[in-house]
Amino acid sequence: MAISIKSQREIELMRESNRLLCEMHNELAKMIKPGITTMDLDKAAAAFIKDCGCVSNFLNYEGYPGNICTSVNEQVVHGIPSDKTVLKEGDIISIDAGMIYKGYHSDAARTYGVGKIAPEVQQLIDETRNSFFEGIKMAKAGNHLFDISNAIADHIDKFGYGIVRDLVGHGVGTSLHEEPQIPNFHMTRRGPRLQAGMTLAIEPMIALGRGDVDWLDDDWTVVTEDRSPAAHYENTILITDGEPEILSLVD
Ligand code: MF3
Ligand code: CO
Repeated sequence: MAISIKSQREIELMRESNRLLCEMHNELAKMIKPGITTMDLDKAAAAFIKDCGCVSNFLNYEGYPGNICTSVNEQVVHGIPSDKTVLKEGDIISIDAGMIYKGYHSDAARTYGVGKIAPEVQQLIDETRNSFFEGIKMAKAGNHLFDISNAIADHIDKFGYGIVRDLVGHGVGTSLHEEPQIPNFHMTRRGPRLQAGMTLAIEPMIALGRGDVDWLDDDWTVVTEDRSPAAHYENTILITDGEPEILSLVD
């Protein structure tokens, strides 16, 4: 049940896995425009991952059929890429992706608007991202895990958005999902103490309406119960004795 502490060698491998993932996200972002399908994104991701000599950590995860997750509008996470899902002006799309480099997992997600989107939806995307940065202000050795959760929730509460509670962030390393679970909602306890060498995937999932979710009949796609749009922002970070290092966000 312990949270793993990565060695210097493991940290280097986590850095490289996440650096490649960041590059892939940047490439996929350039493709987002009306008329492309979520399968186009999946195929580009598969090719990128292969070219890196990596493998997708999502493909076949508990039977998941895609290389990445592509979640459109009211879909929160785990949307399955399809050649029937054509992006159109005004949609939003969350791309969640990861890969395994020499045994080490990366995991990161971003939400984009397709063409011109409603201002209140753009604000949802922006504040979901901002909540991540508020959260990681607390992410340093000596603080406690749920200090991050509470900082995220405090930020989101200012806007009255719905926080998804059925899914949470997580440790990441030699497995995609390691201890601990990292809620994006308020916790009364402070949780485990953070230590340098922990690698964590922090991932607020936020709805314009309420945070309650349903699963579609494909048993994967998570949608908001009220069908309001949802945003997702995730990075893999490294806890240090000083500021956290955002492994999946590099220049
Ligand atoms: N990236 C997701 C997470 O944050 C995992 C997706 S697993 C998949 O934990 F099977 F749905 F791809
Ligand atoms: Co994750």
